[in-house]
This record gives sequence, structure tokens and C-alpha cells, in this order.
Amino acid sequence: MAYAISEQNLERQKLLARIMGPVTDQLLESLPLPSLSRCLDVGCGMGETTRQLAGKLDNVVELIGVDQDSSLIEVARSVPGPDGKITFQQGDAAHLSFEDQTFDFVFARYLLHHLDHPQVVLAEMLRVCKSGGIVAVQEPDCAKQYCYPESWAYEKIPNIYGRLFANAFIGRQLYSLFRRLGCPLPHIDVMTIAGVNVELRRSYRMVMEAIGPALMEKGILDSKELEDLCEELRRVEEQDDVLCVWSPTFSVWVNRT
Ligand SMILES: C[S@@+](CC[C@H](N)C(=O)[O-])C[C@H]1O[C@@H](n2cnc3c(N)ncnc32)[C@H](O)[C@@H]1O
Repeated sequence: MAYAISEQNLERQKLLARIMGPVTDQLLESLPLPSLSRCLDVGCGMGETTRQLAGKLDNVVELIGVDQDSSLIEVARSVPGPDGKITFQQGDAAHLSFEDQTFDFVFARYLLHHLDHPQVVLAEMLRVCKSGGIVAVQEPDCAKQYCYPESWAYEKIPNIYGRLFANAFIGRQLYSLFRRLGCPLPHIDVMTIAGVNVELRRSYRMVMEAIGPALMEKGILDSKELEDLCEELRRVEEQDDVLCVWSPTFSVWVNRT
């Protein structure tokens, strides 16, 4: 299944980065990373995660971001990063162009739920990680998200994401995926973001707009249904005092044996 999000509106990735920033910071602060580390960010998009890693890991000596979308890699390269430690490369996460055991830390955020064969990418991430290094992923489980006062649009989202994304409910599966790849003790943390911050609600509308063409192409929604859904999401976004509870994020990491 091809990546289903149209990345024309770069504001969507920036919004995701702002919302997810604290969740990623919390994971990074909990990791026992080796000093003087070489790091890889897989599915880096426009480099928001890569720059966050650079800012947070002060012992990093080299940080490479890889994404399959060359236009996002160009955007990533155009934003100045800290003192030449970061480089970006176009590439496929399922066939990373690095030697075995190259990196101390290999990270991916919000990548695997888009993939038909996430275990192939996890195996690649483990392959390029040094023995004793860390592989960490952060993925959603899109089964439940809601707002109050309630909205019919939020109730439809699990079904829509479940039909469109290759693995919309991957969060709960990550532990088993790592175990099947021979990792002895995956660490798991699950975090739910909730608040009245309008950006949480806006993110649902922006995702729906970005996946709209794919939803219509696959016959999941027709144009009228899509229009109604986006209108309802916009109504919720513009209303005051609406609590939005985002789909939980699973952070799972392992020490590479
Ligand atoms: C939702 S974005 C996440 C971007 C970034 N990691 C973040 O959290 O802000 C998913 C990214 O994965 C990339 N992607 C999807 N399939 C890929 C693949 N097979 N190899 C490399 N990148 C891929 C997309 O191009 C997109 O930039």
C-alpha cells in the first residue's frame, strides 16, 4: 500500500511535530543512550523529528534523516540545523543503504502504521543498529480518539483510518513485533495527549484533508461524505471549550543485543 497522505500542506507535519514534541522528549529523556552517538531517523519527513533529536541529544556526533519522499528531503535540507551534524538522504526504510551496526540510536516516529510490512522496516532498523545500541519507535493506535462535547466525525475516524492506513492499530502490536524479531525485553510506554488546545482538533481536520484524495480513490468516502466530515471537523475546531483526546501513542524501545 502506498503512503496515503498528501504532503502538499507542510503545516500538517509541523503541527504533528508540535503536538508530538513533548511525547518524543519524554522518550528521549528516558533512554540510556551511549555517549558520542551516531543516530538515524527513519521516515524523517521534513526533518522535524531529526532536528528535535539533535536538540535533545547533546552527545550526538552524526545524525542522518532518511525519507522516501525527495521533496520532503529537499525541505528538510533547506532548514538550518545545528552545526553541520545533520544530513538528510532520500531512501526506502525497507532497504536502508547503511552497513550493519552503523548507528548507536535508530528512531522512527509515525512511520510504521503506514507500512504493509512494518516488521521488514523494524528488522532493517535493528540491522543498522550497533550491538548495545537502541532502536526506538513511536506509533499511534488509532482505535479511539474522541472529543467532548461529542462529534459524530470522531466516531468515524477509527473505521476510516483502519481502512486507509496499512496498520492503523499498530501501537498495541509493537511489543510482539519486536519479540518476533528476537528482541528479549522491549520497553513500552503509552501516552495519551488530551486538552482544549485547538491544535489537537485542527490536526484531525488537516489529516482528513491530506488523506481525502486517497479516501476517494479507494472508495472509502465519496466527495460529499468527505466534505461533510471536513466541515464537521472544522466546526469542532472552531468551537470553544472542546476537550480533545488524541489516539494513544505507543513508545517502544529495545537494546540491540
Ligand atoms: C507521518 S510522517 C512522520 C514524519 C516524522 N517522522 C514525524 O514524526 O514528524 C511519515 C513519513 O514517513 C515517510 N515514509 C513512508 N513510507 C516510507 C518508506 N518506505 N521509507 C521511508 N520513508 C517513508 C513519509 O514520506 C513521511 O514523510
